[in-house]
Amino acid sequence: MLLIKNIGLLQTPVGSFKHGGEKQGENLKLKNAAVLIDGGVIKSITSDGELPDGCEGAQVIDAAGKLVTPGLIDCHTHMVFGGYRQGEIPLKLRGAGYLDILRAGGGILDTVRKTRQASEEELFDKTMGFLDEMLSLGVTTVESKSGYGLDEENELKMLRVNKKLNESHRIEVVSTFLGAHAIPDEYKGRAGEYIEMLCNDVLPVVKAEGLAEFCDIFCEDEVFDVEQSRRMLSAAQALGLPSKIHADEIEEIGGASLSGEIGAVSAEHLIATGEKGMASMAKGGVIADLLPATSFYLNKTFAPARRMIELGIPVAIASDFNPGSCPSLNLQLAMSMGYITYRMTPEEVLSAVTVNAACSIGREKLVGTLEEGKQADLVIWDAPDMEMLVYRFGSNLAKTVIKKGEVVHG
Ligand code: NIG
Ligand code: FE
Repeated sequence: MLLIKNIGLLQTPVGSFKHGGEKQGENLKLKNAAVLIDGGVIKSITSDGELPDGCEGAQVIDAAGKLVTPGLIDCHTHMVFGGYRQGEIPLKLRGAGYLDILRAGGGILDTVRKTRQASEEELFDKTMGFLDEMLSLGVTTVESKSGYGLDEENELKMLRVNKKLNESHRIEVVSTFLGAHAIPDEYKGRAGEYIEMLCNDVLPVVKAEGLAEFCDIFCEDEVFDVEQSRRMLSAAQALGLPSKIHADEIEEIGGASLSGEIGAVSAEHLIATGEKGMASMAKGGVIADLLPATSFYLNKTFAPARRMIELGIPVAIASDFNPGSCPSLNLQLAMSMGYITYRMTPEEVLSAVTVNAACSIGREKLVGTLEEGKQADLVIWDAPDMEMLVYRFGSNLAKTVIKKGEVVHG
């Protein structure tokens, strides 16, 4: 047993459901709290200086009056990739846009070449390093998308890396199939045929081998259009893989509207989303996975988070860690950006990286809140409250990270 005592402020959303609208900012706040953990699970939580019954003999951690929250959940990453793309920045400084670089065979396609060259072991070792860094930042659950293989062999290779990472690292890794991340050179001008190949040849293997829990697609101008996205995501749904969709990252071509129509779990990015797309998301109960560090890195505007909250759309915030549009895996940084650029309150930001992120990857019954019976994933912060945490942007304030009741950092 483990007892964490002398918690100045324990702050957490409550419940295993999407927190939209007014609920987005509803957090339980307990002062002078303690948490008793047994077998990796939260046994009880007390406040006002009381200690939980039966805590005698437990190993004790003194939180020294600091803030404790649930472990952070990064619900959108592309963390498995070969190489890096620092060479794109000079091109961008000279005026090239994200889609210009992709059209010229760079961008995602550059990472595809490097990822195809890398062995499963090389990708695994590299990503284990990223996961170590994430854990030190307070992240205890991560989603990981494929999408730099773009053929059967290499997409499956990436997904097997996800599986092995999940088995090997303390962080839990939730795998998403994003075979439709770009049109590979071999299918240039034949996006529809590429989608058919994914649906007919690759998806059944992904399903049969249990290599992914979700299917995603990059629905974007010059990449995959709305009808191709509908085809891909419906085929996956028919196999029991719920949908995610990269929608309106650069241009608003209807991805957000589609997400509501097909009952996607989440629509992600949404930088360019307008009223029609948001209305569809609100109607369909779709979570908005927002990625502010990507807006910053692409020098774009920021998703209309406040309007989404007004419409009752549950908002999650994630890093989007990838070698092109967001080479930062620092979810704390993304939280600060959510605070400052989205104008979300510290409470809304906390729900965005815990309970709503958990809902976005199907883990809401296990993680995302601090409640009796939930997995004991939590962080002791070097901060007295959430306000301080989101204000100190760029610093790592995670003091002690606990995963399934064990100290894994600090
Ligand atoms: O979420 N937009 C598509 N996918 C990633 C970027 C991938 C890349 O540039 O390598 C994103 O921004
Ligand atoms: Fe992404």
